[in-house]
Amino acid sequence: MDGKVKKIVLAYSGGLDTSVIIQWLKEQYDCEIIAFCADVGQGEELEPVREKALATGASKVYIEDLQEEFAKDFLFPMLRANAYYENNYLLGTAIARPLIAKEQIRIALKEGADGVCHGCTGKGNDQIRFELAYQTLNPHIKIIAPWRHWDLTSRSALMDYAKTHGIPVPVTKAKPYSIDRNLFHISFEGGVLEDPWYTPDEDMFQLSVAPENAPDKPTTIEIDYEAGDPVAVNGERMSPARLLTRLNEFGGRNGIGRIDIVENRFVGMKSRGVYETPGGTILHVAHKAVESLTVDREIMYLRDTMIPDYAKAIYNGFWYSPERELMQKTIDESQKNVYGTARLKLYKGSCIVTGRKAVKSLYDEKIATFEEDDGYRQDDAEGFIRLNALRLKIYSATYGKK
Ligand code: ARG
Repeated sequence: MDGKVKKIVLAYSGGLDTSVIIQWLKEQYDCEIIAFCADVGQGEELEPVREKALATGASKVYIEDLQEEFAKDFLFPMLRANAYYENNYLLGTAIARPLIAKEQIRIALKEGADGVCHGCTGKGNDQIRFELAYQTLNPHIKIIAPWRHWDLTSRSALMDYAKTHGIPVPVTKAKPYSIDRNLFHISFEGGVLEDPWYTPDEDMFQLSVAPENAPDKPTTIEIDYEAGDPVAVNGERMSPARLLTRLNEFGGRNGIGRIDIVENRFVGMKSRGVYETPGGTILHVAHKAVESLTVDREIMYLRDTMIPDYAKAIYNGFWYSPERELMQKTIDESQKNVYGTARLKLYKGSCIVTGRKAVKSLYDEKIATFEEDDGYRQDDAEGFIRLNALRLKIYSATYGKK
């Protein structure tokens, strides 16, 4: 392989692929491998992963619960932006990668490792997200991406390799698609889903029931916001990760947050993905409701113009970039008055706002009312409209009427 490496920190999941990677790295580099498994809320018991990594040849294992940091420093900033990619995707996988990479680089520094490794294929976005982060956070680290080099390109080749090297092969049948799950979402792509016309099987879904199977009675919830961040559900204050967990339960039970899309990967291809983001979908709706009372019109327009660029930066792996940081500062500034409460009705896949309130609200019932008031003079509107019509009149007089 290209060059010598003496110690590698591997982003390890405990699955077959990354178990094979440990063995493969040892063969290729004859060096020490440290396995790092990030708990970003994938909902699995991770302690068994420790044994597995050690048994497969890792010299040391790090299992770190990053859920609170994930929610507070990655998901919440992204939610302040109301970010979605290509009108749909709430970026659940994209936003977890920079956190995992950051932690991996931190462990590498602590352990004196000179290499980092991930198990992403050479066709997806995740390799870009990990590696842009690695290179930004430690420009000298050596990056190893086995999928781009080895010849174990089919599942059976991988299984054979595992069997020859005594790596336990999972007894359960492999799922017919690739899954990525965390506190915010679950994504499904590849395999049977590669046909964009194929209807996903109902038993694929893990975080939500189908809308038609949700309760016949609606659930009403209230979410409180402070400075653009959700802080409480139904009056109960919760940590960021707890709050998301709670909203995932509410949303999942009511069939909220499923999408099935074809998106454009950064590497150039189109790809079909199915996602469940129950809590995240609720938070998008609730946040906009509280913003509608507390954010000035022009600030809102300016922030909204940033959404496509901001989302693209996250999707393409540019979390640690000057442009994302610049946009984040502006977005955060736009949130300084976003304090208030949204009330939502969850019902068979829909999440509808039924009320919003804020102690310091820009909405003024006295001004908005159809009744007489003295904050707004209706006859002012006449001149306002006439002046706004001026350029329209000149235009049509010059170039002809429509
Ligand atoms: N297409 C989504 C994205 O690029 C999901 C990727 C899922 N990754 C995975 N390794 N299964 O963010």
